[in-house]
This record gives sequence, structure tokens and C-alpha cells, in this order.
Amino acid sequence: MVQVLSASPEQTMAYGEKLGRVLKGGEVIAYFGGLGAGKTCFTAGLARGLGVVDDVHSPTFAIVNEYRGEIPLCHFDMYRVTTFDSLCSTGFFDYLDGRRVLAVEWSENIENALPAEHVIRLRIERGAGENERILQMTGDEAYENSWR
Ligand SMILES: Nc1ncnc2c1ncn2[C@@H]1O[C@H](COP(=O)(O)OP(=O)(O)OP(=O)(O)O)[C@@H](O)[C@H]1O
Ligand SMILES: [Mg+2]
Repeated sequence: MVQVLSASPEQTMAYGEKLGRVLKGGEVIAYFGGLGAGKTCFTAGLARGLGVVDDVHSPTFAIVNEYRGEIPLCHFDMYRVTTFDSLCSTGFFDYLDGRRVLAVEWSENIENALPAEHVIRLRIERGAGENERILQMTGDEAYENSWR
């Protein structure tokens, strides 16, 4: 596990970008952390690191946004996805094709369906100040090293 403190949305994006640069495709970034934690913000940085060309925005209503790029990114919001059937309808399992990266907001709701490998857990908690966030990453060494 590696933990960093972010003092601004820009800094959170920068940590996302650092991680994005070392991804190869096939990884699942599983976010844990409540409303307004900074998951979408982090994903915008992740997209930049992956060489994504499309704009990142919250997939709340669509449930999944697909972004094109050197490594394509699928961005999920599982806030309302609470059953196995509804998870299947999102295309989650089809997108696990080893080529794209999946960024999954509200992974709390689908934790049991996460694959056994290639999962990077990203926990975001609020810090003491209004703009402080504590970012915790748990994954393979190579990913964790992107923040060290
Ligand atoms: N250090 C920080 N890192 C990230 N966001 C921050 C930080 N400080 C303040 N913020 C603010 O917190 C909010 C984070 O919003 P964001 O949409 O990324 O959260 P989210 O976790 O995706 O929420 P939701 O569960 O509603 O989708 C933004 O308004 C952002 O400006
Ligand atoms: Mg969000």
C-alpha cells in the first residue's frame, strides 16, 4: 500500500496521471470513497496519463463512458448498480478484455465481482482541510511505485 496526501484537485489529477503512465491495458482501477471524494477528478488525470483524447466527465447517468486513446479507458459509476444482473447490463464483464483500462467509481457496490488479478484499489478519504484528500493505492509494486 502507498499513501499520499493531495492538497488540491490538480494534485489529485497529477497522481492519476502518474498511475496512468505505467498502466498497460487490462487493469481495473477500483475506487472506494464517498460522494465528492475526487474519483472523477482522479480519473481525468488517469486519462491524461493513458493518452486518452476524449474529455472525461462523470458517467452518473450513462453508468459507463468510453474514452478513446492510446489505451482506451472505460469509466463506470456503479452508484446505482447493486445487483448482479444490473452489473451484467453495464457491459462490465465484456469490457474486461485485457486491452482497455477500467476505472470503477463506487466499487463498494460490485466488490465481489472484481476480478482476482490486475485490480488496483484506490481509496480516497477526506483530510483535515476542505481541499485535502488522502489517496491510498493497493496494487502490484510497479503501480505503487508510480507515486514513490
Ligand atoms: N484534493 C482534492 N482532490 C480532488 N478533488 C478535490 C480536492 N479538493 C477539493 N476537491 C473537490 O472535490 C470534488 C470532487 O469531485 P468528484 O466529482 O471528482 O468526486 P467523486 O468522488 O467522483 O464524486 P461522486 O461519488 O459524486 O461521483 C470537486 O468539486 C473538487 O473540486
Ligand atoms: Mg464521480
